[in-house]
Amino acid sequence: MKVLGIHSSPIKNGNMAYLLNYALEEAFRAEGVSTEAVAIAGLSIADCRHCNWCMTKQTQNRFCSIEDDALPILQKILDCDILILGSPVYFSRLSGIMACLIDRTRCFTFGKNGHLALKGKVGIALTVGWSRNLGMETTLASLHGAFLVHEMLTPSCHEAGALYGVGLASGRRDENLAYKREKLGVKDDHEGLYSTKLLVREALRVAKQMAGTR
Ligand SMILES: Cc1cc2nc3c(=O)[nH]c(=O)nc-3n(C[C@H](O)[C@H](O)[C@H](O)COP(=O)(O)O)c2cc1C
Repeated sequence: MKVLGIHSSPIKNGNMAYLLNYALEEAFRAEGVSTEAVAIAGLSIADCRHCNWCMTKQTQNRFCSIEDDALPILQKILDCDILILGSPVYFSRLSGIMACLIDRTRCFTFGKNGHLALKGKVGIALTVGWSRNLGMETTLASLHGAFLVHEMLTPSCHEAGALYGVGLASGRRDENLAYKREKLGVKDDHEGLYSTKLLVREALRVAKQMAGTR
């Protein structure tokens, strides 16, 4: 079982990267699971041009007319069983480059090579925001929307307190409720980390159930 994690934070060893690696480490503990992390910030990933090349000219090995860094990532998405998408909260939604990459996956919804090529794969959404109530759920919903458009399965986990994936807060306050200069606050969001662990396990359970049926 292949678990692919993609995150869009430009901060190399920042909160989003930490959370994604935490999720992948949990997945890797399970038998027969391989994991891969891809950081997309700074890569050349152009906007979808809506040229419809994918609908008419797509080949087995070429999904999209635009030749840029998205192409090998699209292949990885097609090859994985579980896709974890992680975006920091930017103005209460996913970050721009993550939106670009998701738009480019349109080649899998209407691709000449097969409609809904990602159907039945499992997706989970992760996010990190500075504050707990400043846009995490809307960010997660924007990532979930992509899974649903592809008719992917996106598990919820009541025990994890996770309906739309998991959001963690990176901002930390001191005893006077002033924000600290803590750079990796996500490490202390123990509840969020625990939720992540449970949701990853649930994703593995669902993906195993789906194996062979796609
Ligand atoms: C452009 C921009 C917009 C942001 N908007 C929000 C926001 O709406 N809500 C929020 O909670 N945090 C917001 N943040 C803060 C980040 O989500 C937060 O610092 C997070 O930890 C970033 O993840 P990173 O450490 O992996 O970069 C924003 C940060 C940037 C750079």
